[in-house]
Amino acid sequence: MIVLGIESSCDETGLALFDSEKGLLAHTLHSQVELHAEYGGVVPELASRDHIRYLTPLLEQVLSQASLKKSDIDGLAYTAGPGLIGALMSGASYGRALAWALAIPAVEVHHMEGHLLAPMLEDNPPEFPFVALLVSGGHTLLAYVKGIGQYELLGQSLDDAAGEAFDKTAKLLGLGYPGGPALAVLAEEGQQGVYRFPRPMIDRPGLDFSFSGLKTFALNTMQSAAQDGQIAQQTKADICLAFEEAVADTLKIKCRRALEQQGCNTLVIAGGVGANKRLRRTLAEMVESLGGQLFYPRIEFCTDNGAMIAQVGCFRLMAGETQPLEIDARARWPMQELKAI
Ligand code: KG4
Ligand code: ZN
Repeated sequence: MIVLGIESSCDETGLALFDSEKGLLAHTLHSQVELHAEYGGVVPELASRDHIRYLTPLLEQVLSQASLKKSDIDGLAYTAGPGLIGALMSGASYGRALAWALAIPAVEVHHMEGHLLAPMLEDNPPEFPFVALLVSGGHTLLAYVKGIGQYELLGQSLDDAAGEAFDKTAKLLGLGYPGGPALAVLAEEGQQGVYRFPRPMIDRPGLDFSFSGLKTFALNTMQSAAQDGQIAQQTKADICLAFEEAVADTLKIKCRRALEQQGCNTLVIAGGVGANKRLRRTLAEMVESLGGQLFYPRIEFCTDNGAMIAQVGCFRLMAGETQPLEIDARARWPMQELKAI
């Protein structure tokens, strides 16, 4: 079965073709980074319009990459939530209408399930059960994954998501949008040991996170380091490094606790912050010390993409799930509502 996947939940339009036998056939992406950069963040209305502008050209591109025609597509999968409602509606209505026109089944995909199973796009996929750390711009959570659709929530952020903390701290430092990758680049020039940021909530039992205090800590550090209202570039880099170390270390401590609690030594990282090299290194060392294995998708499948949506859509369509003609995109959608397959 060949499935076309459409991702449009935020500021990336991603399309991909996934074959139930051969795996990923082709994928393509248009990022809206330049469009939103001058506003310092995503402007929802502009995002929706841009998705509409790119869906058809990207469809043609992905089909030509795979040397396929529209009539070769057997099923359609689109992100139905969570995300920006206008952006979701653009991809969902396009996908649902295309499926109707081609007389093929369509299925809704949960964006976070897409991220969570993205490591399965790689040659050496993780086996169930595993502990998954999902770290994106909107979510930070730990889940125990027993199978597709069987997600036990172990802990989550009580305030800002890890990616949000990266973005807000980067904005304070004047690093623009998107902040996370820019902060990570500047952190490379930071000197170890100049600043030490707190590791929030590690002294409390449990697996929840809180990251909003880190941006306040960054603000206070900046204010006390400023001279005549200016901060030296080296000081900014030192702050970036201390911030990144605090996030990576906090996530490591909670992941180790989750693995020990579940009696499991397979860890999966997914979501945009999973692209962070320091986080990958820190978690790899920890998992290795437990004699376990760490899995993550290639960098381009950590951030939003169509491949992860096409893959989950294929799993669900193969299991017989279909969506009727109504379009039911939603900004919020708890993962626990997903059906096991
Ligand atoms: O998964 P994603 O593409 O979108 C959501 O579903 O939210 O994640 C985007 C988030 C942003 O907050 C971005 O700053 C962060 O992932 N991010 C990073 C890196 N690359 C992306 N954060 C830290 N280091 C990176 N290299
Ligand atoms: Zn995402």
